[in-house]
Formats: sequence, C-alpha cells, structure tokens
Amino acid sequence: MKLLIINACSNKNSKTLKLTKDIIKLFDNDYAIDIINTYALPFSFINDEIIEKRNNGEYDELAFKYANMIKNADRIIIAAPLWDMSYPASLKVFIENIMIPNVLFRYEDDKAIGLSNAKKLLYITTIGGKVNINYGFEEIKAIANLWGINDVNSISIDLVDVIPNRFEDEKNKLINELKNKIKEF
Ligand SMILES: Cc1cc2nc3c(=O)[nH]c(=O)nc-3n(C[C@H](O)[C@H](O)[C@H](O)COP(=O)(O)O)c2cc1C
Repeated sequence: MKLLIINACSNKNSKTLKLTKDIIKLFDNDYAIDIINTYALPFSFINDEIIEKRNNGEYDELAFKYANMIKNADRIIIAAPLWDMSYPASLKVFIENIMIPNVLFRYEDDKAIGLSNAKKLLYITTIGGKVNINYGFEEIKAIANLWGINDVNSISIDLVDVIPNRFEDEKNKLINELKNKIKEF
C-alpha cells in the first residue's frame, strides 16, 4: 500500500506537521510512504504562457511525475495550516500544476470521471483562531472528489494561537481518541 503525504507546512516547528506525524504513527498498515514537500518544488503559479503550452499538449515533466504519484497512491494525506482563511499558496500552486486532465480526471460527456486509485484522503490542519467553516478543506474535498476519491475527511485543531498549551493538550486528547479508530486508514 502506498501512502502519499503532501506536506504544505512551511514552519520549522509546524504544529500541523507534528500532528500529522503523530497520526501516522497510529496506522497499523504497512505503508510505503512518499512525501511531497510543496515548498521544495520549483513550480510557479499557472499563467497564460503555461496555459498556452498546455493547450499545445506540453505539460511540465515534474507536474506529470507528481500527478502520477497522486494517481498511483492508495491513501493520501495533505498537511496544511490555515493561512488567511485558506490553505497556503504553496499548496494551491502545487494543485494548479498537477491538475492534469487524463491523468487525474477526465470528462465523459458532461460527467467527470476521477482517475486516482486512492480510496481515502485525509486533510490535517491547525488553525490559529476560531472559524465557522473548515476553510481550505472544502476546496480540497471537491478536488479529491474530482480525482475520484470520495472518502475524504479532515482532522483539525483550532484556537492554537489563542489558548496557551491548547495544541499539545488537544493533540494528546485526539491521539488517544483516534488510537483504536484509525488503525486501518
Ligand atoms: C501567514 C499566516 C496566516 C494565517 N492566517 C490565519 C487565519 O486566517 N485564521 C486563523 O485562525 N489563523 C491564521 N493563522 C494562524 C495559523 O493557522 C496557526 O498558527 C497554525 O497553527 C499554523 O500552523 P503550523 O504551525 O503548522 O504552521 C495564520 C498564520 C500565518 C503564519
């Protein structure tokens, strides 16, 4: 089984990444783990020049490589903090680049057909304050659905910058709660 982790955490002491690492330790599955660090990639946001190339069938080789990793994974985790009511631009740029038709999705008449083998996607996030909607996750869910992944969940801890020690306390609570539930991700 292949587990692909898309890491969009920039902070050296990222809470989101700490939470992600602790969650992965709970899995019993014998995964081969691949990690994509969106901050380590040379991608730029898509512009007209790139769109023109794409219209001529020219896609970036690296973009193909990562699109195929998403296509061939069995499980996907995206780790991304909440930044300005969304996920970081680095993740958006990654998605813009790897969203390649006929690799990750195609249309049959007016129906989108997802082409990823992955059965589940988990979005892990931490949030400085309190928000009413799990911003960022809603878009990721729609994107995962387009790739053909319908089992999409989110794990989040909020108020981490407001209440002292909340992150560690909630993380420990969450890990304890998940211990017996998430063995089979
Ligand atoms: C650039 C930036 C933007 C942020 N925007 C928000 C925001 O819109 N709402 C919020 O509640 N917290 C916001 N925060 C706080 C982060 O969500 C919070 O610190 C989070 O735990 C950071 O995760 P990390 O340690 O994995 O980087 C922001 C933090 C940064 C650095």
